[in-house]
Amino acid sequence: MKSILITGCNRGLGLGLVQQLVNLPSPPEKIFATCRDISKATKLKEIADKNKNVQIIEIDLKDTTRYNEIIAKVEEQVGDDGLNVLFNNAAIAIPTTIEDVEVDTMAEVYLVNTIIPVMLTKAFMPLLKKAAKKKNEFGIDRAAIINMSSLVASITENTLGGKYAYRCSKTAINAATKSMSIDLKKYGIMAISMDPGWVQTDMGGSNAKIDVETSTSNIINVLQSLEEKHSGQYIQYSGKILPW
Ligand SMILES: NC(=O)c1ccc[n+]([C@@H]2O[C@H](COP(=O)([O-])OP(=O)(O)OC[C@H]3O[C@@H](n4cnc5c(N)ncnc54)[C@H](OP(=O)(O)O)[C@@H]3O)[C@@H](O)[C@H]2O)c1
Repeated sequence: MKSILITGCNRGLGLGLVQQLVNLPSPPEKIFATCRDISKATKLKEIADKNKNVQIIEIDLKDTTRYNEIIAKVEEQVGDDGLNVLFNNAAIAIPTTIEDVEVDTMAEVYLVNTIIPVMLTKAFMPLLKKAAKKKNEFGIDRAAIINMSSLVASITENTLGGKYAYRCSKTAINAATKSMSIDLKKYGIMAISMDPGWVQTDMGGSNAKIDVETSTSNIINVLQSLEEKHSGQYIQYSGKILPW
């Protein structure tokens, strides 16, 4: 993979993914890492200062009017090679029960976790298509959309109920992943949903089962193993295929 753009790299799994990528024996030539407020992204800035292949893009992804601007920034760097991987990682989680869920909460979580990844993917289509034309085999060296999902998105695995806003938003992004995999197959672009595990981040909390390094190193292994048969799949960090 020559280039990748990851959203939500100020902290948590996004930051961990950038760290893993720069440590690879053959890191990508261009790693575009988005964050909302560069002045607060101290750790990300430290990585970018040490690794010239990391470029920080400051954007609140709710501002869809600025997507053309970030596409232009990426295009300037990747040129005719296009963008190999779009990793839609940024998300929010707001606890909701059937007694307290509100329209505004559902809408906010849907906007960030479902609508934004779909709109950003739409915006990056020309650059993903460009990259896909350069290779024949499906995979991250060609063109791939990685949508960060969650185990709670699985309808089959839902034994606990609750989490109306977050769960529905992640089930919805899974539905989008499946459609993307079908619609974009003809261009040579693959799409998968990833479950990172229950991870010790601000979102996962300190009681979570695994640390960021374990999750992100495994996610990178999964990405490197992707083939055509994986497109349209929902894959755990361990490589296990999850039921929808
Ligand atoms: N941690 C877990 O156990 C777990 C489990 C399953 C799935 N996941 C998924 O993994 C992904 C990463 O989660 P995490 O644990 O790393 O979460 P996190 O620590 O809460 O980080 C979330 C990131 O998303 C960014 N973000 C939120 N809203 C944004 C917006 N409007 N525009 C741009 N960026 C925005 C945040 O930016 P700021 O820093 O500026 O707020 C932050 O960088 C998410 O998709 C999450 O649903 C996590």
